[in-house]
Formats: sequence, C-alpha cells, structure tokens
Amino acid sequence: MNIVQVLSSTVKRNRIASAALAALLSAASLPALAGDADAGKDLAVPCAACHGPDGNSVAPNWPKLAGMGERYLLKQLKDIKSGARSIPEMTGQLDAMSDSDLENLAAFYAAQTMSGGVAKAELVAEGETIYRGGVKESGISACTACHSPTGKGNVLAGFPRLSGQHATYIEAQLLKFQSTERNNDAEGVMREIAKRMTAAEIKAVSSYASGLR
Ligand code: HEC
Ligand code: HEC
Repeated sequence: MNIVQVLSSTVKRNRIASAALAALLSAASLPALAGDADAGKDLAVPCAACHGPDGNSVAPNWPKLAGMGERYLLKQLKDIKSGARSIPEMTGQLDAMSDSDLENLAAFYAAQTMSGGVAKAELVAEGETIYRGGVKESGISACTACHSPTGKGNVLAGFPRLSGQHATYIEAQLLKFQSTERNNDAEGVMREIAKRMTAAEIKAVSSYASGLR
C-alpha cells in the first residue's frame, strides 16, 4: 500500500476530517529533503547535554532524536524556533540558526540509530489492543496506520517514529496533546485522538509503542 492508500483507509475506518487528510497528503507529496548530516554534527554539539551525542538521550523526559524521520525533525525544529511548539528547556537554543542549519541538524539526527526500548509486561496486552485496533467505543484511531505496525512511523509523510522512544516522553506528549498544551499537530490530528483517551490507556499504549521493534 502506498501512503495515499494507507491514509484513505485510516480515514474510512476512523473519524479524521477530510481537511486533515488533505493537509497530511500535501505534506506527503513534498520533495525530498537535502540536509547535510556532516554540517549538522557540529551544530548538534550543544544539544548533546540533553539529547545525547548521537541523539540517544538518557533521561526519559528528554526525547531521543536518533533515527527519527528527517521531515518530522525539521518540522519540529521550525515549530520550536517559531514558538509554535513551546519547549522552555530549549529557549534560545535555535535563535541563531538559519533554515539550512535546521535542515542540517535534522539530517544529522535522522542518520543516527535509535536505541531500543522495553515495554512493561503488564501493559503489553492493553497497549497492543489500542495501538493496533484503537478503541471503537470512544472513537480512538489505531496508531498503526500512521505510526506503522513496527512503530517506525512514516518518514516521507513526516509521521514520527515511536518505537524505541522513551515511554515517559511518549506519555507526556499524549497528555500535552490532550490538554492542547502541544498544538502544533496539523489539523489537530493528535489532539483529536488524545482527547478521547483515558490516562490508563495513554500509559499502556506509550509503554507498548516504546517497546516495538
Ligand atoms: C536543556 C535540555 C535541552 C537542550 C540543550 C536541547 N533540547 Fe531539544 N528538547 C528538550 C526537551 C525537554 C524536549 C521535549 C519537551 C516536551 O515537549 O516535552 C526537546 C525536544 C526536542 C525536539 C522534538 C523531538 C520530538 O520527538 O518531537 C527536537 C527536534 C529537539 N529537541 C532538538 C534539539 C536540538 C537540535 C538541540 C540543540 C540545538 C536541542 N534540542 C537542545 C531539551 C533540550
Ligand atoms: C492519522 C494519522 C495518525 C494517527 C492515527 C496517530 N497519529 Fe500520532 N502523530 C501523527 C502526526 C502527523 C504526528 C506529528 C504531529 C506534529 O507535526 O507535531 C504525530 C505525533 C505523535 C506523537 C508525538 C511524537 C514525538 O516524537 O513527539 C505521539 C506520542 C503520537 N503521535 C502517538 C500516537 C498514538 C499512541 C496513536 C494511537 C492511539 C497515534 N499517535 C495515532 C499522526 C497520527
């Protein structure tokens, strides 16, 4: 299945507005990116304190960046720089960076390898059910269609990788989408899903997604 078919079937099975689909598809048809990973490596030196020298952060509330898709990373960097996504810990970090600096940083982290995560055994069953099938009664979409069955996301469309990411960070993002503190998702695609989830469902699916291979 190509990206268009995947998204169309997602929308048919779930309640995502057609405006959201159009926005996601326009992102999916953008040309390939051309960041320079070597140039990005030098720019990434000050980021290592939190995100690790190779983009594998140790602290579970600081996201791993290694192996995340280049398009997703670039969008986040632009959103963080503009303030569309507010990250107090990163205040000032990107102010002096040009667009091509951000492209190079995205290329550098995309070229690294993300370390693995481990799901909590007692959360696997519930997490797997939500991740693969969603929750019909409350209208929660399955995560699989956009974040992929293995959790590696969709690089071309800019849908982020979840497998290997810290469960603590994944859970925090879902709670931020739910409260709309994070609102830089196109057409509210993640806010729409997160607002239907209970805290327990968020915890279970975050643990499960982190442990995917
Ligand atoms: C003082 C710690 C700190 C430093 C230094 C820092 N970051 Fe971050 N960064 C964070 C935190 C914390 C978050 C996530 C906050 C949240 O939304 O919960 C984040 C999020 C991100 C994200 C979004 C990740 C995702 O999965 O959406 C990117 C990309 C990023 N940082 C890149 C960088 C780059 C590039 C630098 C260096 C120029 C940098 N950061 C420096 C703490 C830091
Ligand atoms: C229709 C597509 C779609 C579906 C279905 C979907 N997501 Fe997402 N998700 C996205 C997009 C697009 C983003 C990036 C938003 C942005 O640009 O900031 C995202 C971002 C995220 C993030 C933030 C990642 C990071 O690194 O900061 C998490 C966590 C997440 N989704 C979890 C889930 C979970 C769990 C499910 C299932 C319950 C799910 N998503 C279902 C499209 C989707």
